[in-house]
Amino acid sequence: MLKRILGKSGYEVSEVGFGAWQIGADWGDEVSREAANEALHAAVDAGVNFIDTADVYGGGRSESIIGEFIGERQEQIYVATKMGRATESWDSGYDEVSRAAEASCKRLGVDCLDLVQLHCIPEETLHAGHAFESLEKIKQSGLIRQYGVSVETIDEGLFCIGNSDAVSLQVIFNIFRQRVVTSLLPVASEKKIGIIARVPLASGLLSGRFSKGHEFGENDHRRFNCDGQLFNVGETFAGVPFSEGVDLAERVEFILAGECGNATSAQKSLRWVLDHDSVTTVIPGAKNALQSDENANVSGIPPLSGEVHANLLELYDSRIDSRVRGRY
Ligand SMILES: NC(=O)c1ccc[n+]([C@@H]2O[C@H](COP(=O)([O-])OP(=O)(O)OC[C@H]3O[C@@H](n4cnc5c(N)ncnc54)[C@H](OP(=O)(O)O)[C@@H]3O)[C@@H](O)[C@H]2O)c1
Repeated sequence: MLKRILGKSGYEVSEVGFGAWQIGADWGDEVSREAANEALHAAVDAGVNFIDTADVYGGGRSESIIGEFIGERQEQIYVATKMGRATESWDSGYDEVSRAAEASCKRLGVDCLDLVQLHCIPEETLHAGHAFESLEKIKQSGLIRQYGVSVETIDEGLFCIGNSDAVSLQVIFNIFRQRVVTSLLPVASEKKIGIIARVPLASGLLSGRFSKGHEFGENDHRRFNCDGQLFNVGETFAGVPFSEGVDLAERVEFILAGECGNATSAQKSLRWVLDHDSVTTVIPGAKNALQSDENANVSGIPPLSGEVHANLLELYDSRIDSRVRGRY
């Protein structure tokens, strides 16, 4: 597993991380603690040392499972959690941020959080700047080591780079969401901000497994948020309407055919993300050991050819960009 440095934090993190929303909730049938534990072990066995979670994933379930898991392993594992979405009235004040950090520490079984990310808080709250003041103060108190921001839009990302000491930005980045390549990633690179690439498989679409009639479970955001009914539609299928996404994923598969030997479509799509040097780590979500092992092994796959990158960019510009919905 190759490692990359997460911005100014100096953390040496695996270029493939582990997205832990799935082991909390919102992805159909609950992932059992046993399956979650197996998925985490498979990832770390394959060299992953970076896990992304949030206080709201399953109301703390994801963090608790991770807390138990890291207690079982000897390796240095960086856990990045998030805060800011637990209540509608989140004000980013010191007391609120401090309480959230203490609760995450408790669930994760640690005294100090490696990385806390503001969890796509409203743009007005972000611009008000209190959140960064609170995080700075809490960093001084020793409850968190570093902080970063998970953002929805390119402008929010640029704002954080220019107005905070955040060490990382978490952005939606995949073959269906290429705009950040020219707008945000070069600025982040120049300022040494780590980039954490989320939703890299467009919620699974880019694995090529789905057909148009696919029915997602009642409690799966790919059903209840497929058109942005509950939160930014960009978080579900990267904002592309599902049935169009199935066709586009087929087209992507065609372009990727012949690349990377026996690699799966999911692996090639993750490889595409890693081929961008300004990305520090890609965090595919996984529900089981098979997925997390397959995802981790992408680090050992050679880069895609320049021709394939050019063809995927052409496909994006001509057929995908205009179809992406939501705040971007
Ligand atoms: N606002 C935020 O900050 C925010 C928002 C979204 C996500 N995130 C973070 O980013 C992580 C990744 O994003 P995401 O989980 O939303 O989307 P994703 O990684 O694009 O998609 C995950 C889904 O892809 C499928 N999958 C994973 N590995 C696979 C493989 N090897 N082969 C075939 N299919 C595979 C699984 O689908 P099935 O479930 O159908 O098996 C899995 O649930 C999350 O876990 C979370 O940590 C953060």
